[in-house]
Amino acid sequence: MEEKQYPKPKTMFSAIQPSGTITLGNYLGALRHWINLQKEYFCIFALADLHTITVRQEPLKMRKNVLEAYALLIACGIDLDKCIFFIQSHVKAHSELAWILNCYAQFGELARMTQFKDKSQNHKDNINAGLFSYPCLMAADILLYKSDFIPIGADQKQHVELTRNIAERFNGIYGEVFSIPEPYIAKTGAKIMSLQDPSKKMSKSDKNKNAWISILDNKDAIIKKFGRAITDSEAIVRSREGKDGINNLISIYSCATGKNLDEIEEEFSGKGYGTFKAAVAEAVWSHIEHIQNRFKEIIDDKPYLEKCYRENAEKASYLAENTLKKVKKKIGFII
Ligand code: TYM
Repeated sequence: MEEKQYPKPKTMFSAIQPSGTITLGNYLGALRHWINLQKEYFCIFALADLHTITVRQEPLKMRKNVLEAYALLIACGIDLDKCIFFIQSHVKAHSELAWILNCYAQFGELARMTQFKDKSQNHKDNINAGLFSYPCLMAADILLYKSDFIPIGADQKQHVELTRNIAERFNGIYGEVFSIPEPYIAKTGAKIMSLQDPSKKMSKSDKNKNAWISILDNKDAIIKKFGRAITDSEAIVRSREGKDGINNLISIYSCATGKNLDEIEEEFSGKGYGTFKAAVAEAVWSHIEHIQNRFKEIIDDKPYLEKCYRENAEKASYLAENTLKKVKKKIGFII
């Protein structure tokens, strides 16, 4: 009998920096897609701890943050029976390929990265070389696993485009070594904005704690933060140009409930911002309440977490070393 050929599932790769908490922006822009896509794709996810040291970290706090982020992502729904989820610094091939890719990226293209420009503005006292070559490490993360799709928020698109350029340049010299990845950016929630300055993206590095929601915030804090969110004086729940505050709340509500713009406008027609903000808070809470409960169950089980991250680093290393070996051979290293 002829053997049936099944198409190989596509590979998804993504990562998050485990620096402090995880925000509603991370969750709606990226993590919820990671969780959904596990059913369809071969998914590989990482905690990008090597990326975090481009900004100075306090050692004890860093260890705590990484472990908490590992537990939190499992609590969000990463299924370790279906995908690989590891800590970046445990897989040595990332640093090694990053160095190699540094030699295939141009100064000019790295200097054009908006994140580099923003971060060097915000950390003027520490504009280190790592901050500059950060996209090469990100390219290494992606290319080591021959990733087809990269689920990310809009702010990371430029880095994935640069990864494609580096991969194409490399393949142009040595033949088809790398797969060319596509960014996967959802239509809603790709850029969740600050609740206090809706012209800026929501970010945990914002000093104003009212500007962002942590997925570990309690219900009271969530209600208060949405209650204080900056909107406008028109008090009409309708998406329109120039009203960044209300547009942001509408897209958060849409992501959290799955309702579209027309449904939302109809639901809140004739109701003020107070009612709407309370509904947004409730919808967000209903999403994250179970994540917090699950997080509390696993964060204290250190042996379980250690077993998971060690086993997953081994699986990732196997795949990564394979690609790295091919790359080194092509370049001319004795392997
Ligand atoms: P990071 O840790 O800043 O963010 C993790 C993911 O969350 C998305 N995100 C947002 N989405 C919508 N609205 C927001 N306000 C918001 N803030 C963050 C980000 O776009 C990202 O998808 N360099 C990456 C981590 C990384 C990576 C990779 C990602 C390292 N290697 C390889 C993809 C592939 C970063 O700092 O993401």
